[in-house]
Amino acid sequence: METESPHEEFKVKRKRSLQSPDLASPISHCICVTSPEGKTIINPRYEILSTIYDQPASPSRILLVKDTETDAILILKQLLKCKILSHAQNISALREIEIHQSIRHLNIVTFYDSGETEDAYNLLLEYLPGYLYFTDRIEVNNKPFNLKPDGGVQKLKSFSYDVIQGLEYLHSQGIIHLDLKPGNLLLYTDVDEDEYPLVKICDFGLSRKVDETGYALIEKKCGTDKYVPPEVNDGARISPAADMWSLGLLLHNLAVGYTPHAMKWTPGQPIPFHKRHWPKYEGTGLKEFIEACLRLKPEERITSRDALLHPWLSFN
Ligand SMILES: Nc1ncnc2c1ncn2[C@@H]1O[C@H](COP(=O)(O)OP(=O)(O)OP(=O)(O)O)[C@@H](O)[C@H]1O
Ligand SMILES: [Mg+2]
Repeated sequence: METESPHEEFKVKRKRSLQSPDLASPISHCICVTSPEGKTIINPRYEILSTIYDQPASPSRILLVKDTETDAILILKQLLKCKILSHAQNISALREIEIHQSIRHLNIVTFYDSGETEDAYNLLLEYLPGYLYFTDRIEVNNKPFNLKPDGGVQKLKSFSYDVIQGLEYLHSQGIIHLDLKPGNLLLYTDVDEDEYPLVKICDFGLSRKVDETGYALIEKKCGTDKYVPPEVNDGARISPAADMWSLGLLLHNLAVGYTPHAMKWTPGQPIPFHKRHWPKYEGTGLKEFIEACLRLKPEERITSRDALLHPWLSFN
């Protein structure tokens, strides 16, 4: 039994969200400067504190930096040229910057500045302290939210709401994220400090802009296996509906700790919601929402705009 109405929760959440400082007071940043030798270098104003992500196979390196002019903690995402091995990867890196710098929304990691140095393409971004929350919980520990201390339909609803708001904004701008997964969702605060921390979407490394027909052409199949929609293949024309598929799998995973593939589900067949795992979501609309996201034909999936009106997210 829920004791508080979701309406109240969302009112509180919205009030807090509107006060989010990163959108209210942008500070002028300048990631690159010219050295006395005439080289473009990272502005020494940004002091590197630590590396928080650096994988051998990935061109991305994520560094925690301090802006010594304001003491603000920020992220420097570097796309290392020594690991960008093909023309296609280079185009991808430039596309990531072009797309990320064109968007600004409460549920999207804020982009401050970008610049190219000899060894990397550099993006200066907002730092989200709760960056390991979804990765640890879902990818590492396989724990669903219905276990304590993270239990709570309202919490999952709040997280869903944030992700869908972010997606709705992206889709309204003609952008398909194309890599929606736990690792690309970050929390605005550490989870202990705030019952329903704001969720932000990061990583526009695979994102595409649709053309005037509403579709984007992808040369190669891409994405993270478990979350890749069926229509994403070599040479496919894809639409924002691709993100709704990944969202359906993501919510299934957040709700019960596994995706339907673990129940031998074949896309296009009814989703086998295992009775034992779903009782707390009965009557919330979540299962129906997931089904509406996981329709095989992209044009039959719920859109991000309609998602905001779905009973799963209704305020009463
Ligand atoms: N703004 C941020 N604040 C805090 N942590 C971040 C931020 N951006 C990225 N990270 C952390 O770094 C990880 C990798 O970042 P990101 O997803 O942008 O890189 P990537 O391009 O996906 O790399 P890969 O291709 O290896 O997946 C994220 O999963 C998150 O843990
Ligand atoms: Mg990523």
